[in-house]
Amino acid sequence: MAKRIDGKAIAAEIREKVALDVQNLAKKGITPGLAVVIVGNDPASRTYVNNKKKACAQAGLLSEEYALPAQTTQQELMELVQKLNKKKEIHGILVQSPLPNGLDEEAVVEAIDPEKDVDAFHPSNVGRIMIGNYHFLPCTPAGVIELLRAENIEISGKNCVVIGRSNIVGKPMAMLLLHNNGTVTICHSKTKDLKEICNKADILVAAVGKAKFVTEDMVKPGAVVIDVGMNRDENGKLCGDVDFDSVEKIASYITPVPGGVGPMTIAMLLKNTVTAAKRQNI
Ligand code: GUN
Repeated sequence: MAKRIDGKAIAAEIREKVALDVQNLAKKGITPGLAVVIVGNDPASRTYVNNKKKACAQAGLLSEEYALPAQTTQQELMELVQKLNKKKEIHGILVQSPLPNGLDEEAVVEAIDPEKDVDAFHPSNVGRIMIGNYHFLPCTPAGVIELLRAENIEISGKNCVVIGRSNIVGKPMAMLLLHNNGTVTICHSKTKDLKEICNKADILVAAVGKAKFVTEDMVKPGAVVIDVGMNRDENGKLCGDVDFDSVEKIASYITPVPGGVGPMTIAMLLKNTVTAAKRQNI
């Protein structure tokens, strides 16, 4: 039976360290500030944004919410980003994805000052990650690496398989595993022999966005299984990309959903915002 990796507890430890950092910055008169921009009424986005704001408050960071209607124009959104780029109290800017149809997300991300890009989505920060010379790591992949570190799970030399190639998770996840000397394979919807490739994974990261996609027959006994998914099952219950009940029986470690990777993402966002505040006050 796999050990369940307690993302909630590990994230709580990181948030405590962040809170200490924030207290030390307060002595210098600095309060890290995060602007969260949400456009439209996507309920999942609303939940994420509320959680991010709550975590900021708990760790002593300032957070400002900018909730815009779904009809917001590209120009209005770009102007808001420009305004936040200039705003001294704001060190980090996060534009919650996905944006409503008709808005150009790539252009919005490119408009964010890379020094305030706490998501690490700006092409300049993405390039830095590729090279390995970065200030900010994308929150979800960074959270996964922290989970592995907290459990003393070695990455170096291991066969790591990432299912999913999104810009937010799959691609940067693969890069961070590579920086940690993993031997990395990225699988996606056109991959042939998915099951065979997954079966060779010592560390399997599922970031597909499909409920219970990873089944027991795809997992090598003793593998470490990290579930980045956040889906609803047939009964409307929150579930990951991994068929937890069957895979748990053969894996060595597994992350639950909820309570695995999710809490880490927010903890890493707080960490990035503190880093941004420090960098802007050197
Ligand atoms: N939507 C889902 N995950 C994220 C994230 O990490 N950052 C932003 N900005 N939007 C998201």
